[in-house]
Amino acid sequence: MPDIYIRPYQHADEQSVLQICYRTGFMGQDLSGTNRFNDRKLFGYLFCLFYLRYETEHCFVAVDRSNGDKVVGYILGTLDTRNQNRQFAWKMGWRIALRLLFYTGWRYTESFREVIFFLKGARSKIEPNPLYKVYPAHLHINVLPEYQHCGIGSKLLDRFEQHVRKSGVAGIHLSTSNRNLKAIPFYRKKGYDLLLEKEDTFWSNVPDYKTLVFAKKL
Ligand SMILES: CC(C)(COP(=O)(O)OP(=O)(O)OC[C@H]1O[C@@H](n2cnc3c(N)ncnc32)[C@H](O)[C@@H]1OP(=O)(O)O)[C@@H](O)C(=O)NCCC(=O)NCCS
Repeated sequence: MPDIYIRPYQHADEQSVLQICYRTGFMGQDLSGTNRFNDRKLFGYLFCLFYLRYETEHCFVAVDRSNGDKVVGYILGTLDTRNQNRQFAWKMGWRIALRLLFYTGWRYTESFREVIFFLKGARSKIEPNPLYKVYPAHLHINVLPEYQHCGIGSKLLDRFEQHVRKSGVAGIHLSTSNRNLKAIPFYRKKGYDLLLEKEDTFWSNVPDYKTLVFAKKL
């Protein structure tokens, strides 16, 4: 039985977090071996690194004391999504663009294609979003497959909610997909309501894909 505790993220956890992100990043499943997105560093730029570097105080990890203090899960987020979107574009946009043009486009054509596919489909992401007023915070949560469904996700989410509440922020939202059959019951059980279904799609060649937005008032 793992002996789990939750603590604030530290810089030394970066590689573990990036690995967990990659191993759970394909609609909740492992990307390794799918040949869909082999540029692991770019995947990190897109989904994790911004939070780890610029919103460190809102990041927490789950650690297994019985396995040499291994990091087995994380929750990352922001208290202010509107500002985070702006900061992400400013601080990560150029890194992503340079890597796409001068590295990924040549070395990892499958990753390049996925990013272009996503950018074409993600129109609503750049529209001003009234949701952010009521639910300003958002989160990303991922637990290693071999540690899932034994309460770690719940512990991480409880810790993040406690942190957001303490900061005086009134609500949290998050996006997932209709294909993520672990995340949907998880968020429902934790008191999140489905607010929106959008046609935005991240992954190519996944039929009937929809983006679901869940939210909770604190
Ligand atoms: C979603 C996720 C964070 C849940 O964390 P977890 O530690 O597995 O969840 P918990 O053990 O705390 O489970 C709480 C509830 O979530 C639901 N749940 C968790 N795993 C589930 C599964 N495999 N199938 C169905 N429901 C599941 C259940 O309702 C569960 O309550 P129960 O134990 O009474 O059945 C985890 O499965 C995960 O990291 N998945 C891959 C990454 C991902 O999809 N992240 C979310 C992206 S939006």
